[in-house]
Amino acid sequence: MWRIVENRLWQLYARVYDTILLRFLPYRRLLRVSAEALNSAPGWKVLDAGCGTGNLTSHIARTRPETLLTAVDFAPAMLRRAARKVKNNSKVTVRQVDLNRLLPFAESEFDAVVCVNVLYAVEDPERLLRELNRVLKPNGRFVLVNPANQPKMRFIVQEHISELRLSQPLLWPFLLAGQVLRTLPQLLVFTLVNAHIQRQQEYHFYSVKRLVESIGDSGFKVIRSERVYGEQCWFMICAKEFTSRGIDTHRERWAHLA
Ligand SMILES: C[S@@+](CC[C@H](N)C(=O)[O-])C[C@H]1O[C@@H](n2cnc3c(N)ncnc32)[C@H](O)[C@@H]1O
Repeated sequence: MWRIVENRLWQLYARVYDTILLRFLPYRRLLRVSAEALNSAPGWKVLDAGCGTGNLTSHIARTRPETLLTAVDFAPAMLRRAARKVKNNSKVTVRQVDLNRLLPFAESEFDAVVCVNVLYAVEDPERLLRELNRVLKPNGRFVLVNPANQPKMRFIVQEHISELRLSQPLLWPFLLAGQVLRTLPQLLVFTLVNAHIQRQQEYHFYSVKRLVESIGDSGFKVIRSERVYGEQCWFMICAKEFTSRGIDTHRERWAHLA
């Protein structure tokens, strides 16, 4: 029963997701920093696990056009929007995959994996982490964004307002009012879905200690972590654990982020 409700929830969320989030400055920055953290090289195969409406995938496709992207999600309404954004781009594959199951990819298939605000929503986050580890190459990079324990939307909204204020010191109240008025019905649905997600017992809003333990137990090493998105999410750059020779190679490759 819960799974049916959940599916409907994501379908509904898809309808309002871009209208709200793409206007949201902290979300746009989250996309940029996630793509930068992946730092994909030409020809790299990258998996966007839980791509939603494809915002990160299409951002990477635009900024790093030589990347071979696979974007997966289980919600058809999300996938339809994602597919539209990368139409005619032969380097991007959009595909329906349920992250609650074993992933339909070979071992070490990807050079990098990114998973933004999805891990909390799957049945068994540790199993998904192990699967993401399996499909990642040794030395491969894993960028994970996951809500902090008890995330609060109001801090993300505050960050949006501060940024708007900085970029438009005189006009910001009018711009903000315009944004709210133009998107009022979608904003209402968005807020309700968000409130519902945050109250769901089935979701996993891990403490940072639990998150780091789960990441480590799944065969990754956290090489950098910080709070982002109004400090409501953990942003972690991880690497697949490797042999001692691998560690040296890895350090060289990511030295600029140390
Ligand atoms: C908050 S959205 C994040 C979307 C995208 N990563 C972004 O940052 O915009 C969460 C996404 O996870 C997807 N999702 C949740 N559970 C899933 C599952 N079991 N398998 C595949 N996708 C799932 C939802 O459909 C939704 O698109």
